[in-house]
This record gives sequence, structure tokens and C-alpha cells, in this order.
Amino acid sequence: DKSEQDALKKAAGVEAAKLIENDMIAGLGTGSTVKFFVDELGRRVKEEGLHFTGVTTSSRTKVQAESYGIKIVDIDDVPQIDVTVDGADEVDQNFNGIKGGGAALLWEKIVAINSKKIVWIVDESKVVDTIGRFPLPVEVIPFGAQHVIDRLKNRGYAPTVRMNAERTPIRTDENNFIVDLHLNRIDHPQDLAEDLINTVGLVEHGLFLNMVNTVIVGDPRGPRVLTN
Ligand code: A5P
Repeated sequence: DKSEQDALKKAAGVEAAKLIENDMIAGLGTGSTVKFFVDELGRRVKEEGLHFTGVTTSSRTKVQAESYGIKIVDIDDVPQIDVTVDGADEVDQNFNGIKGGGAALLWEKIVAINSKKIVWIVDESKVVDTIGRFPLPVEVIPFGAQHVIDRLKNRGYAPTVRMNAERTPIRTDENNFIVDLHLNRIDHPQDLAEDLINTVGLVEHGLFLNMVNTVIVGDPRGPRVLTN
């Protein structure tokens, strides 16, 4: 149930917080698992005097981190990020995965590719043999979006525009739409990634391939740290 799952997310987040050391530049991801990670960093700042600089992947995470007195800077004001800790929606044995369930995939990918080390924190339910059961989010610019959606439909990707509670399309931090592709399974992620990124008007997709160094899995027996 949810409280058990939250306990696993928290365990992974607390474990990942150990990777942040004084004077580092840390990338802070987005989502319900990362929330526990940032809570733990906040505790360490307060109780242990930990001091580091953060770069955030969403306006939500920025608000949370700053509430703990963590210094957040613009990504363009740092040469590189030492380590980024983020969540994921699915991850396979090769550490390839899907992100964007929280609609932050574009900034998340920009922060990720500018990081020396990328760590994902997940509960065990996110670890899969083949990715794709989780609908793959893509970020689409509003201008001409219907044409992009039609193209995705014609390719058999079963796109749906993500809506908010008021039944209007949700907007990302860049004011774009999120379109979810209902694929069921992705057998050739690299080919799919290339096809998607070559679609004009589609700015980024939630496939994160060959990027992650470490996955910390919240497991009832204790967090498992996997490295590749
Ligand atoms: C945000 O856009 C996502 O990529 C999240 O990192 C991902 O959805 C994981 O979120 P949870 O930790 O809430 O499952």
C-alpha cells in the first residue's frame, strides 16, 4: 500500500542524501521520491551544518529546497554538476528508463546531461524487465501541437494530452504540453528515441538511455545500491 511504498521511497532518498558532501554542486530532481531526499538534505543542513549548492529540475523542487535554506543557483551559473539525484518512473536492468511522470522531464534531462554522476532513487515497483508499460511522456511546444499529436497517432504511439483537474492541458515549467504515449512495451528504445527527437515541435522525450550510473532501490530488506 501507499505508506509501505512511501517508506521504501524514503529509505532510498535518505540513502542517496549520503552522497552529498560539503561544497558540492548537487542536482536535485523532481517527484515524490526526491521529496524525501530533499527533506533529508534539509535535515542535514540544519543538524549537521551541511553546506552545498543546488541546481533544481523544477520550480517545485526549488521551492522545497529553498524552504530548508539550501542555496539554489541557475544551471548556467555553474560549470558542471557533481552529482544529480532524481526519481524515475521505470528502470530496466541496463539502467535505461522512463521519466516525466511528474512532467519535469525536459529540465531533468538538461540537468542530467550536465552532471558528472547521475543517481536514480526508486522503490522496487519501478524496476522492470522491459520499459514501456508506464506511458512515455514527451514534451511538445503548443504551436502546431495538434499536428505533432496526429503524427504520433499515425505512427501508432497512442498519444494522449495530459490534463489537469480543470480538464485543460497541463503546462510544464517551459509552458509546453505533455503528451503521454501508450506503448505497453518498448523493445527498441534507441530507435524510438531517435524517431521522437526528430519530430519537429517535440522538444524532448522521457527516455533516459545510457545516462545513469547508480540506482538506489528502496527494498523492504533495506536500500540496494546498484552501480553499472
Ligand atoms: C518527474 O518529471 C519525473 O521524471 C519523476 O522523477 C518521476 O516521475 C518519479 O516520480 P516519483 O518519485 O513521484 O514516482
